[in-house]
Amino acid sequence: MSESILVVSHLRKAYGSTIAVDGICFSVDRGEIVGLLGPNGAGKTTTISMICGLTVPTDGRVTVSGHDIAAEAIAAKSQIGLVPQDIALYEELSATANLSFWGSLQGLTGQSLRSRVAELLEKVDLEGRATEPVERFSGGMKRRLNLAVGLIAHPHLLLLDEPTVGIDPQARFAILDIVREEARAGTAVLYTTHLLEEAERLCDRILIIDRGTIHAEGSPESLVAMLGEGKVVTIRGPFEQGSIDPLLVTEDGMEIVSSQAGRVLLSIENGAIPALFELLSRDEVSVDDISVREPDLESVFIKLTGRQLRD
Ligand SMILES: Nc1ncnc2c1ncn2[C@@H]1O[C@H](COP(=O)(O)OP(=O)(O)OP(=O)(O)O)[C@@H](O)[C@H]1O
Ligand SMILES: [Mg+2]
Repeated sequence: MSESILVVSHLRKAYGSTIAVDGICFSVDRGEIVGLLGPNGAGKTTTISMICGLTVPTDGRVTVSGHDIAAEAIAAKSQIGLVPQDIALYEELSATANLSFWGSLQGLTGQSLRSRVAELLEKVDLEGRATEPVERFSGGMKRRLNLAVGLIAHPHLLLLDEPTVGIDPQARFAILDIVREEARAGTAVLYTTHLLEEAERLCDRILIIDRGTIHAEGSPESLVAMLGEGKVVTIRGPFEQGSIDPLLVTEDGMEIVSSQAGRVLLSIENGAIPALFELLSRDEVSVDDISVREPDLESVFIKLTGRQLRD
């Protein structure tokens, strides 16, 4: 039977009239990697900060291995490893000193601290640079060390807030591999990102979040299956919102996924593609661009939120 490590119930955060997080519910099981996928301002960091007790919710509840983050803060926090969006390292200290500092804060001492630090330096491939001040590190090296800090006390719940921002593909893959390895060892992982490819490759389950609300959740495959079997066609042109919809719905085998000014997304049966071209030219719809692709998470995101992740 699966075992929920993290349970988030009706979590909400209001900053004045801004609702950063609007009553979300989800859980993460032991060994599971759950992605929180959403654009800038979706509420990802606010959610992470409430889970680890840095931000007090307006409403709702978080438990970690059954411990309430508010009522049993020490027991709950001792289970959590946090990899924050903004790198939290002492620039003038070495990698070893940074890890030792965070490890000692979390109760590791003596030989067990030293061996954990050595193990993690090797895991993030920094053992050759262990004694240099962090200020000399590249962005990718800092991100890797930031991850090691999150792992120092063998967390049962690992929270990662966009841990690969601004780094090259090689360092990115190294980080994703380590996250997979942690999950295989039984850690529950919550991974926030605005990168579809990352969520798709890494996560067992994805929560699509926008404007503080979870719009859908499921495996990458099951989310993509929401779009059906056909292709996804994007039509771009100088048209008003909704102006070409009546034309498109007259045709069999086409379904409007999302319709905005300048961009319409259709789910379309393979055989119906020539009919679409005919329709557009017959009605002299002014079109700048048409693209045809397999259903993907990006189209699901647009269907659910009316927005692109990159907007
Ligand atoms: N301390 C704060 N005071 C006021 N508003 C805030 C505060 N923190 C976040 N917000 C607002 O809450 C909303 C969600 O922000 P949050 O940082 O959680 O988004 P995010 O999904 O992490 O975005 P990003 O991808 O840019 O990191 C935004 O509208 C933001 O402006
Ligand atoms: Mg954020």
